[in-house]
Amino acid sequence: MKKLWKNCHIATMQNGQYSSIEHAAMVTSGQHIHWIGTFEDLPADAYSETIDLNGAWVTPGLIDCHTHSVFGGNRSVEFEKRLQGVSYAEIAASGGGIASTVRATREASEQELLASALKRVRCLLKDGVTTIEIKSGYGLDYVNERKMLRVIRQIAETLPMTVRSTCLAAHALPPEYKDQSDAYIEHICNEMLPKLHQEGLVDAVDAFCEYLAFSPAQVERLFKTAQSLNLPIKLHAEQLSSLGGSSLAARYQALSADHLEFMTEDDVKAMAAAGTVAVLLPGAFYFLRETKYPPLESLHQHGVRIALSSDLNPGTSPALSLRLMMNMGSTLFRLTPEQTLAGVTTHAAYALGLQETHGTLETGKVADFIAWDIEHPSEIVYWLGGDLPKRIIQHGNEISI
Ligand code: NIG
Ligand code: FE
Repeated sequence: MKKLWKNCHIATMQNGQYSSIEHAAMVTSGQHIHWIGTFEDLPADAYSETIDLNGAWVTPGLIDCHTHSVFGGNRSVEFEKRLQGVSYAEIAASGGGIASTVRATREASEQELLASALKRVRCLLKDGVTTIEIKSGYGLDYVNERKMLRVIRQIAETLPMTVRSTCLAAHALPPEYKDQSDAYIEHICNEMLPKLHQEGLVDAVDAFCEYLAFSPAQVERLFKTAQSLNLPIKLHAEQLSSLGGSSLAARYQALSADHLEFMTEDDVKAMAAAGTVAVLLPGAFYFLRETKYPPLESLHQHGVRIALSSDLNPGTSPALSLRLMMNMGSTLFRLTPEQTLAGVTTHAAYALGLQETHGTLETGKVADFIAWDIEHPSEIVYWLGGDLPKRIIQHGNEISI
């Protein structure tokens, strides 16, 4: 059953560029792209359906490769405190921050967590996101991490999206392990992660490498376990200080290191050599009123792939629009709209290890694409929020939003 999608222009995003095809057409067969090119070159064939895209610009479905979309409660009161001058680290040290979301998440039932997460993830889907990564990390014990990861799997069953789950049990120290962070890491490595993995709930492993979370030595211990379980690695690194987490991640061939405001030139070189993707999170940068910028010039110079993501979470980035993050990526980090779009398509696919199937529009890849009612692809980055008119096609089917 082949479908013909015609009367469009296509930004395929191959090689991290628009790589545009004007006056284009695409043929999908089931869930995949069967043919893509100019309408003029369209091979004669029989189609079960022909869809007129009315001159739209087609891009790959957007990929939000770093989110914490599942959580209980929210932290708007903490936001007010921060505006009065209390810092994120001070709030964390006084029992707020991640710990307060851990309390709310532990109290919530699986159904409650699913209902609240679906509201948020639907916003991203409506914004054009067809692939999303979601982390655990607000449970911090076996029962509650499992609860979060099960909710992530249920999101995948409920919404027409590709959903990857990441175990972030090493996000913060749970109260049960106060002053025993080594013991907590051992517990994750010996008990939690192997069990959760065995239950089929984990696609990747992440940790928060930071002075207020876990040290590089502790993260390395976790990486070794992840490697022994054949699980890909990601890392929150260099967000608030420079500990060399991103170099460590590169040494372990991590898919990505994320945040990176405080990374050094040596970290950049290590990531470039390993092909580890730099995931920048302009929402967290903005929301924490960070003043230290990730080393954009050096990342470009060394050819590190740069992905962008919402970091949707209750503490540092309550972001419900990836397009708004894209605008911030361009305005704050001076990425061109083309680089920004590459950051939420092809480079984001690499950050999830999905580059063979997702992230660009090419024959054989999954037919996830957005038909935007715009004059040029830069408009996707240009408009600030709102609901940009679009049609969303996931696995070859148009979905109603
Ligand atoms: O990506 N940096 C650590 N984790 C999240 C924030 C989590 C929270 O504050 O709830 C982040 O910024
Ligand atoms: Fe994060």
